[in-house]
Amino acid sequence: MENIDNVPVHVSIIMDGNGRWAREKGLERTAGHVEGVESVRACTEAAVECGVKYLSLYAFSEENWGRPQDEVDTLMQLMFKSMIGELSNFLDNGIRFMVLGNRTRLGDSLNAAIDDCMSGTAGNSRLTLIVFLSYSGKWDIMQAARRYAEDVLASDPAGRERLLAMGPDGFDGYLVTAGIPDPDLIIRTSGEMRLSNYLLWQGAYSELLFSDVLWPDFRRQEFVDALRTYSKRDRRYGKVK
Ligand code: FPP
Repeated sequence: MENIDNVPVHVSIIMDGNGRWAREKGLERTAGHVEGVESVRACTEAAVECGVKYLSLYAFSEENWGRPQDEVDTLMQLMFKSMIGELSNFLDNGIRFMVLGNRTRLGDSLNAAIDDCMSGTAGNSRLTLIVFLSYSGKWDIMQAARRYAEDVLASDPAGRERLLAMGPDGFDGYLVTAGIPDPDLIIRTSGEMRLSNYLLWQGAYSELLFSDVLWPDFRRQEFVDALRTYSKRDRRYGKVK
């Protein structure tokens, strides 16, 4: 067990660099994604071991649908296989599994596997592992605003005042992350330094950590090192200490 001070409750990772990892080795891009699944496993184990309660992963953005069809297909198959293959592992280790994002764009068999995995692990509480799939921060904010307006207008067609009175706390409950604490730490691998439309609302006060390591090489030690870096950060939330 690692001895780390001030362990973040929610760690989120923008997994980047699979394609470059593969190219460096003269392999197809998809080989990088396959190896990236091993990093998902290693970081999940490390998160459980370190006492992190939520680990979320940006696996596929709304923009990623624009990649070549064979790469999209490979990624979706990897998600499908991982969900089927890891269910018993999740159950053995007390992991609650969730997929969040625009699920209307996913295929029926993938959606069915997600439902099985989510309902099968819903009672677990040691670690919540969230995979953001077909997700983008702007999409999330838009769908939340639309659903909020629909709810208000359904009960009160002249609900203009109530719509205008909405505050951030009420709005949180309409985002796909309702009930999940905002990420304390967002890690992006592969040396890129941007958020790429990820958790734009929820990440308002997240600590950001950019690692040069490519995702397929980001394993237990890199994850633990990131937690140690976080433990030295001074979070002030816009206030003075
Ligand atoms: C970014 O690398 C990575 C992705 C778009 C896909 C990440 C997905 C996985 C590792 C599979 C996840 C599986 C589960 C079960 C969660 P890139 O392709 O953008 O790399 P590049 O920037 O080097 O081209």
